[in-house]
Amino acid sequence: MKRNVAQIAAMKGKEKIVMLTAYDALFARLFADAADILLVGDSLAMSFAGAADTLGASLDQMIYHTKAVCNGAPESLVVLDMPFGSFATPEIALAAALRVYQETAAAAVKIEGGAEKAEVVRTLTTNGIAVAGHIGLLPQFFRAAGGFKVRGKDEISAERIAEDAAAIEQAGAFCVVLEGVKASAAARVRDAVKIPVIGIGAGADCDGQVLVWSDMLGFFEAFKPKFARRYVDGAALAREAAAKFAQDVKNGTFPNADESY
Ligand code: KIV
Repeated sequence: MKRNVAQIAAMKGKEKIVMLTAYDALFARLFADAADILLVGDSLAMSFAGAADTLGASLDQMIYHTKAVCNGAPESLVVLDMPFGSFATPEIALAAALRVYQETAAAAVKIEGGAEKAEVVRTLTTNGIAVAGHIGLLPQFFRAAGGFKVRGKDEISAERIAEDAAAIEQAGAFCVVLEGVKASAAARVRDAVKIPVIGIGAGADCDGQVLVWSDMLGFFEAFKPKFARRYVDGAALAREAAAKFAQDVKNGTFPNADESY
């Protein structure tokens, strides 16, 4: 069922929200029934394009993949992840987000950053663009932050994240992704705001959970984040299928008569 952003916001406290990443039409179609939100994450730079981090994802690439996801799942609520540099200032962010709305059917954009990005979020929401926030561990800022560090380990850090959530809510976001935060701090963040807090590596106390599809299906083998759960060993299945195909070609059993014109 296609939900709009207001309906997603109203799910807080009533029903857990399921967010899954998708980068193409094929998987978007497969995930459409299970996911309340399909996120075209800039993680595609890593799991789809093989880069070492997400910083190289461009707005053009995000728009291309978002079009594909919207084509595959026209009934789904699709969120485009604003790539690194595309929301450096409110003006840059507005120009980029207007392109997203004009060129794709995405319902919203996602912005990494806390209180320091509240003005950007407000500029978008006051111009009719729905925004999902993204706070806690910010993959786009990992170089400046000196690595991927779990947040909320102490009182000051937990309080700061709760304040970030409140700032993003006040700027008009309809939900916020909370990444890489101690489980003990996540409940505090959840309770600090009325908008849903969707966790990834943030424990079970969030209003919903998001997973990167290639982690969920076991296709991404470079590393397995502690928080990710592999529901199938997709990499083994794909390798096995490719090996069987190769064997059938080599020994001449593919194609058979039924597979020939
Ligand atoms: O890029 C992405 O896939 C994300 C999720 C990890 C939330 O931002």
